[in-house]
Amino acid sequence: MASLSGISSRTPLALFFFFFFFFLCCCFASTTSAQLSSSFYNTSCPNALPIIQSAVKAAVAKERRMGASLLRLHFHDCFVQGCDGSVLLDDTSGFTGEKTAGPNNNSLRGFDVVDAIKSKLESDCKQVVSCADILAVAARDSVVALGGPSWTVQLGRRDSTTASFSSANSDIPRPDFNLTDLISAFSDKGLTTTDMVALSGAHTIGQARCTSFRARIYNDTNIDSSLAASLQSSCPSSGDDDSLAPLDASTSTAFDSCYYRNLLSNKGLLHSDQQLHGGGSTDSQVSSYAANSAKFFRDFASAMVKMGSISPLTGSSGEIRTDCRKTN
Ligand code: HEM
Ligand SMILES: *[C@@H]1O[C@H](CO)[C@@H](O)[C@H](O)[C@H]1NC(C)=O
Ligand SMILES: *[C@@H]1O[C@H](CO)[C@@H](O)[C@H](O)[C@H]1NC(C)=O
Ligand SMILES: *[C@@H]1O[C@H](CO)[C@@H](O)[C@H](O)[C@H]1NC(C)=O
Ligand SMILES: *[C@@H]1O[C@H](CO)[C@@H](O)[C@H](O)[C@H]1NC(C)=O
Repeated sequence: MASLSGISSRTPLALFFFFFFFFLCCCFASTTSAQLSSSFYNTSCPNALPIIQSAVKAAVAKERRMGASLLRLHFHDCFVQGCDGSVLLDDTSGFTGEKTAGPNNNSLRGFDVVDAIKSKLESDCKQVVSCADILAVAARDSVVALGGPSWTVQLGRRDSTTASFSSANSDIPRPDFNLTDLISAFSDKGLTTTDMVALSGAHTIGQARCTSFRARIYNDTNIDSSLAASLQSSCPSSGDDDSLAPLDASTSTAFDSCYYRNLLSNKGLLHSDQQLHGGGSTDSQVSSYAANSAKFFRDFASAMVKMGSISPLTGSSGEIRTDCRKTN
């Protein structure tokens, strides 16, 4: 205060500069608080990343598909209200969350792994690490655990106090989508067609239910006939909705570029997968990833960072949940 009165009593110009820099600092502080940062937990919870990584490694060692399930949770989180942990909220008598929406019901998995990670983090650093950030880090660590690329995860997302059943139904792309639908679903989230094709490579791991690919194996003409026949033996034209098949028939527990090689020979499992190759505008990108997995890895990593930055809650928006399944 002494220096302020000293400045202001001397000259109005000095006063002007004082307030000019004062407001500049304010603006700077408020824009940076809205940004994610890779060092967000460096001082507030230095063990956060190692804790998440070792839990993901253990879960994937126990069941390799869990890596796929955790990666998909982050995608379904980010496409609905942004990456805010909304997908993790349980339904209650007075609240319907996203878990029973069409793309999620009887399909999403990995919630117990997220709970276990959250409880370890709560005992190490109480109410510091958000559930939304757990999903972002677990997605990266899952891809790495299955042999895929690594990337630096941006952090500082906070958790929503709301969820949206209707947005989960409208905003998450469906397996019956054509290429135009897919491009626009991603463009609605600020992601390019290139991002969409790269992110679809996530289907190099994991499984889908019969109900998700039945129409493709009975009605599509652009499917390899022996693949269709073999899938039909476990996925009847009606019934057995939950019987599973690998999204990548060749290597469903390895994160590699086989997904794209499959598309070159009409071996995509989902109708939407095969839309990326076979006469459309994305054919050349698929061929390029099929031939060059390093290029796929680079593009996938950068598209994951973009997807992970969809409308995060930062600063004082939202909260840090103590239990990922419910608001505080
Ligand atoms: C391009 C539009 C996409 C569509 C139409 C789509 C659709 C689907 C469907 C229908 C399933 C099977 C669900 C079931 O039958 O239970 C699935 C599984 C999966 N999706 Fe996608 N998806 C898309 C993009 C993505 C993206 C961007 C990611 C992640 C970056 C992703 C990751 C996964 C994973 C890893 C699985 C397997 C999950 C498991 O085994 O538990 N998908 N997807
Ligand atoms: C934050 O921690 C990570 C991992 O220990 C380190 O690589 C990075 O340099 C740190 N960043 C800052 C800004 O301290
Ligand atoms: C979710 O799946 C269960 C079990 O199949 C079913 O009973 C329920 O109606 C489904 N929920 C919604 C909202 O479709
Ligand atoms: C894609 O599907 C939408 C309906 O989801 C339809 O309106 C559109 O005509 C289709 N586009 C092409 C190119 O088939
Ligand atoms: C295949 O297409 C026909 C005609 O559109 C439809 O009636 C039938 O339900 C479809 N089959 C499957 C398994 O989707």
